[in-house]
Parts: sequence; C-alpha cells; structure tokens
Amino acid sequence: MAELVGVFASSHGPMIVRSWSTLGPAPKESLTAAFTELGRRIRAARADALVVISPDHWVNFFIDNLPGICVGVGETHDGPPEPWFKAFPHRTIPGHPQLANHIVETAFQRDFEPSVSYKLALDHGFCIPLWKAGIDPLPPIVPIVLNDLEPPHPSVKRCFAWGSMLAEAVASYPGRLRVAILATGGLSHSIGEPDMGRIDEAFDRECLRRFEAGDPQGLFGFLNERLGQAGNGAAEVRNWVAAHGAARGRGFELIKYDPIPDVYVGCGFASWKV
Ligand SMILES: [Fe+2]
Repeated sequence: MAELVGVFASSHGPMIVRSWSTLGPAPKESLTAAFTELGRRIRAARADALVVISPDHWVNFFIDNLPGICVGVGETHDGPPEPWFKAFPHRTIPGHPQLANHIVETAFQRDFEPSVSYKLALDHGFCIPLWKAGIDPLPPIVPIVLNDLEPPHPSVKRCFAWGSMLAEAVASYPGRLRVAILATGGLSHSIGEPDMGRIDEAFDRECLRRFEAGDPQGLFGFLNERLGQAGNGAAEVRNWVAAHGAARGRGFELIKYDPIPDVYVGCGFASWKV
C-alpha cells in the first residue's frame, strides 16, 4: 500500500522566472518566502514519488490534439523547452511508470478515460514550482496534464472527482511508496487578452476562503459562476480543485497569497493536511 503524504498547490506564472532579475525587492521577498515554505513542507513529506498536476502550455499539445487529461507514463520526461528557462538544472526528469500506469488503470475502473503519453516535455507549469521550491534531488515525477488552456475544459466537479480518484489510486497501489501531489497554476491572471495583467483579487480571496471552508459544493457553485470572469489563466484553479479532491475537500492551509502585478498573477501557495 502506498501512502498519500502530502498535497500541495503553487502558482507558476512564467514571469516568476523570466522577470526575476528585474523584479523589485518586495515581490522577490514575497515569492522567495512562499516558495521556501512550500519547499520545506514538500521536503518534510519525504515523498518517494510526486504527482504533479499542471496544464500544458502548447508544448506537447495543440488544438489539433487536445486531451482533457493526459498522464505521463514514461520512464523519463524531458525538462522545460522554454528558451528563457535554461537555468533549470534538469534536462531529463525521472518518471514513475509503475505508479503512473496504476493511476491510469484506476482511472478507467472509475469511469475516467485519460489519455497517456510515454514522452512528455514538462514546461514551466511543472518546473517553476519544483525549481523555486528547491525540490532537489527531484523524486520521480508522474506528470498529469489537465487542459486548463483551451475550452472545453473538464468541469470543476470532474476535477474534484479526478483528485479523489488519485487518492484512491495511491491507497490501492501495490507497493510501499510515499506519494505527494502538487497542483500548479492560478490563481487569477489574464494572458494575451485585452485586459492582460489584470488580477482579480476579490475572486482569489473568495476562492481561497472557499477552499478553507471545506465545502466542495459551495466551491463548485462559486467557481462555476466566477471562474470564467477572472482571466483566462484562472482556469488553472481546476488543478487546485483536483488537489482539494485528493485531500477529500479538507485540511486546506494557505501558505501565502500575494497579487503581484509584476508577474501578472494572483500568486497562491497552499498545502492540505492529509
Ligand atoms: Fe499557466
């Protein structure tokens, strides 16, 4: 039996890396403090494998082939291909095909039909939190791409169910393994839209309050009403909902929230008590 030893969430706005050298001291200090605490909590979980849920930012998939959910089942994954992310120290990232395939098998038993990939490149969505939180050495990663980029998106209710299924898959894994889950993305941001750079702080704070309240139905209702108006990047909150599902909708602990205009993102960091 494997054990779920931690559930975490982190923003991953690319400007956190692209603009790092030109950020002022306040956002730098804020982000450094958040990533440091996130990293401390992830390392304290002593995970043998890390399931990371992130969107794919047009690196592996495009509108000619756009799965709702894709599980990376490869022995290895490629590091971030973004030309501005060459400082990432790993060109290859170890996978955990046994756990990944068990997740896929469990998913099909629970009426999900994810696609699979034996060769994913893990872009900044996966790698910024791993890098900035200081997760080194990297444990084997099971990457799960959730389509937050281009409609149709999986519903928030379905994302929660997906997370619950992940927890079941971990619990039924036939082997001793400590598994943590890290969801990345959000909170509100707008990219390539007329209001690019807008952060919907009211949405973010209410969203965090709903996670803390531990009321999944209330969270679904709020997100179904407001998610579409908080910038296209807010769609990535679906990954947090999946993490919330893995934690059975309980135990949310905010590490930090800071709406940082310099990186265009309402930056959020959290963990769940499991
Ligand atoms: Fe993103």
